[in-house]
This record gives sequence, C-alpha cells and structure tokens, in this order.
Amino acid sequence: MIEKLADFIEEVKNFKAETAAKAEELRLKFLAKKGILNEIFAEFKNVPPEQKKDFGQKINTLKQLVEQKIQEAKERSEEDSSKPADLDTSLPGPNIALGSHHPITMVKNEIIEIFGRLGFTVAEGQEIEDDYHNFTALNFPPEHPARDMQDTFFIETDPDILLRTHTSGGQVRVMEKQQPPIRVLVPGRVFRNEAVSARSHCIFHQVEGLYIDKNVSFADLKQTLMYFAKEFYGEKTEIRLRPSYFPFTEPSAEMDVSCSICGGKGCAICKGTGWLEILGCGMVHPNVLRNCGIDPEVYSGFAFGMGIERTAMLRYGVTDIRMFFENDMKFLSRFKH
Ligand code: PHE
Repeated sequence: MIEKLADFIEEVKNFKAETAAKAEELRLKFLAKKGILNEIFAEFKNVPPEQKKDFGQKINTLKQLVEQKIQEAKERSEEDSSKPADLDTSLPGPNIALGSHHPITMVKNEIIEIFGRLGFTVAEGQEIEDDYHNFTALNFPPEHPARDMQDTFFIETDPDILLRTHTSGGQVRVMEKQQPPIRVLVPGRVFRNEAVSARSHCIFHQVEGLYIDKNVSFADLKQTLMYFAKEFYGEKTEIRLRPSYFPFTEPSAEMDVSCSICGGKGCAICKGTGWLEILGCGMVHPNVLRNCGIDPEVYSGFAFGMGIERTAMLRYGVTDIRMFFENDMKFLSRFKH
C-alpha cells in the first residue's frame, strides 16, 4: 500500500493541469467521494502500527499536492483575460476624468465669437517678434520714450529680437500682406518685464482688433466697442471713452465700462468709481498705415486692445492673476460646464 501511495504522489507531481477540464479530472479522480484519497483513508485501519506515521504523512502530501495543482489551474484560467466568456461588453466603462477649457481660453473664445458676428477674423501673429514689428512700424521711433511704456524682454544676443509686448505686431503683419478692407483680431500671449503680484504678471494675454476701410470714423469705433460691451457684460452696460495716448493711434482713448458687479453704484471692485477700465483704442495713426503700405489719404481705421486676464478676473471673480498660470486642478475644475 505504501508503494502505491508513493506512485500516486509521483503521478500527481507529473500531472499537468493545463485546462480547467483537466484539473476537474484530477479532482474527480482523487478528491471525489469515491475517489482515491477516500479509498486510501479506508485502508488506514489495516496499516501496521509502525507504518501508520509514515503512511499518514504520505496521504497528507498527496492531498496537498492534488489541491495545489487544482488551485494553480484555477489561477491560470483567471489570469487568462482573453477568455471571451468573461467579457461583458454591455457593461458601462469606467469613468474617465474629463478636462475643461482654461478660463483664459473661454474668455478669449467669447471675445472672438462676439467680434466674429461683426465680420472679424483671427490672425495669430508671433510671440518672438522683431523690434520693427513690435515698435518701429507702430510709430515708436528709436529712442522714443513711449518704448518705456512697455517694459520689454530682449534676447540678450540680439537686441533686435524680443518677446512681443503686445499683439499689435500681428496687425502690422496682416497690413503688410493685405490691402483693406481689413477686419482682424489678434489674440495671443504677450510678455512684459513686470514684477509678478496678485494684480500683474510678466506673461498675460491680449485680444487686439483692427478695422481698416474707406471712411472709417471714430463713431464706428465707438459703436463697435459699445456693441461688444453690451454683448459681453450685459445689455445694461454703458461705456465711456477717456482721452489717452498711444504712439500708433491718433486720437487715442481708454474705454471704461459701467461696473458689472455693482451696476455703476460703486463697490470695492471698481474702487467706488462705478467704472472699470477694460481697453485701449484709437484711430490708426497715418504713419502706421504708411509704414505698412496702405495709403492714409484713401483709407482710415481703428484699433483696440484688451487684456484677457483682467476681463476673466472680473467675469469669474478671480482675485489673484497668478492663479491663471498655476495649473491648480482645484481652481481649473471650477470652470467645467
Ligand atoms: N497695444 C496696446 C497695449 O498693449 C493696446 C492698444 C491696441 C491700444 C490698439 C490702442 C489700440 O497696451
């Protein structure tokens, strides 16, 4: 009997339970009610006492071996994920975390959409500009103090190359290539060497616009901007234009809108004035038109430019401009819709 037991152990050791069916075969042969193990147990009482210990140990070994083989086969079949029977294609998939548009993109797109209704198209310009397109063509003569209005990052090895301080250079590039009528928006990132704080940043975004045709007047400028203000800030919004100075426009103005937070009564956001300054604008200077190959005797036009961060801060009640550049998931997920 002892030898028979040893043979069974050898048999199980060499058994390959590659499939679930083969493992089941093994189980039936050894572990079933009328299986080999029960048969051997029944023999136990006939074993001479001095062999009982050895016999008992061998039975245990055999039983463990059979169970181990069956367990291994089971694990193997669970790992085998290609088994089509286990795959329920009707189950809903796991949730995928969706991203959202950045608030700067959302405001930019809204501005583009509003002016788009008036026939404005979009040109991108370039972030790395030359001095000519950022300044000289825009009627900033060399050494002109107006260049200090915008603190500029120059490329160290070539003072002619700089990071654009406004997107106006993009308008110059459009005018160089295209004769009027021109109706174009230039959105994009701009750079100024300013200390970073809650209110200002060395990187920000602008949308600038340019409209050139025959007989374009300041009244057209005012009407266009009023339309924009009412569409963006609400029907009740009023605008006011204050005289200002830019080398590339004459006359120049700064536009305020009635405070959308307090409705013009005066609050902390508008510092009690009831007005919020949102953009610079003016009639394109004849020198700029001439520099770009457009005849100022025939054509006239207006331009305007606004900062997107400031507009987005007002719209969403963001109090620190740095939040737009932090990529803080908690902040960004507020803007999902
Ligand atoms: N380029 C100006 C700025 O960045 C804004 C502006 C554009 C003003 C067009 C007037 C006309 O400050």
